[in-house]
Amino acid sequence: MIDLRSDTMTQPTPAMREAIASAEVGDEQWREDPTVNELERRAAGTLGHEDSVFVPTATMANEIALRVLAEPGDELIAEENAHVLIGELGGPAVHAGLMTRPLPSQTGRFTPEQVRAAARRGDLGHVPTTRVVAIENTHNASGGRVWPLAEIEAMVETCRELELSLHLDGARLFNAAVASGVKPAAIAAHADTVTICFSKGLGCPLGAIIAGSSERMLRARRYKHQFGGAMRQAGIIAAACVYALDHHVDRLAEDHARALRLAEGLHEAGVPVDLEQVETNFVQVDVGALGLEVPQALQRLLGEGVRLSGTAHPTRLRAVIHLGIKDEDIERAIEVMPRALGAPAQGPKSANAATTSA
Ligand SMILES: Cc1ncc(COP(=O)(O)O)c(C=O)c1O
Repeated sequence: MIDLRSDTMTQPTPAMREAIASAEVGDEQWREDPTVNELERRAAGTLGHEDSVFVPTATMANEIALRVLAEPGDELIAEENAHVLIGELGGPAVHAGLMTRPLPSQTGRFTPEQVRAAARRGDLGHVPTTRVVAIENTHNASGGRVWPLAEIEAMVETCRELELSLHLDGARLFNAAVASGVKPAAIAAHADTVTICFSKGLGCPLGAIIAGSSERMLRARRYKHQFGGAMRQAGIIAAACVYALDHHVDRLAEDHARALRLAEGLHEAGVPVDLEQVETNFVQVDVGALGLEVPQALQRLLGEGVRLSGTAHPTRLRAVIHLGIKDEDIERAIEVMPRALGAPAQGPKSANAATTSA
């Protein structure tokens, strides 16, 4: 089975398991786990922030960050398909008491003008005050798309001007950094809080980080405990994360190259893939254009030994490349997927190979 449902499907490598097995550990709640302490130091430096806090999941990292940045009754602005809005079961409302304001976009990116038009001050007492803007880089629902650095810088500037905090959901920040050839700190340093996730492209079994100023991270540590996320000998996990920072960041370029190869191969075989959209490790396939429903298409692919997953879009599937996927898996997928989906086997100039993003 070639499992392309998500980059969360990775298994720890033998070398990562060795790092886990030999980790030095202590009681994390007492700040006595040397491996967690090392990871938090490393991650803060990598992201250009004063401090960072280790948590089990990126969902918890996002939720704690929002709790740190706003008070109940405040408003959060995010892209309409952002993970914080569609993938965390209403967490911003449940954990931080936030109103949420979705902004539409084609690419997962919205503009300073959209923020300017949406942001409001609750001066009269019955309107919520917009307090936080959250951006997601790479943006999952739009197909792993990257925010160009200049657009992030413009967003930071607008947030400062409007006195809004900026949270960066960088669950796949390293994919963005590798794809755009900039250092993670260049992307992350100007956000007020940043989430990174180790259980996606970095290939760890679990683990995430929230980074920010020392003062904010002090509060994040308290919320982490309150949310039930303070752990004990968590160095067992942090060791995998330290290993991944050393060994699994640069190799993300291989995932991106394989995603592009898959996209081009499918496109040539008449499968409707938007090549423009392939910026990192995601490939989106519009099965609606082949007259298929998503569940039917998933079933047909399963029958050929390839697993994809659905997306926020009603007719698009996604294939996500990760460290468990080799060149031969990509070639096999290119061979069997067009057949499974009944693609017309036409070249890239055919009408059926039109892009999905109108
Ligand atoms: C952009 C983004 N943020 C946060 C998360 C949450 O990660 P987890 O499910 O590991 O908590 C995900 C998971 O897919 C994601 O894609």
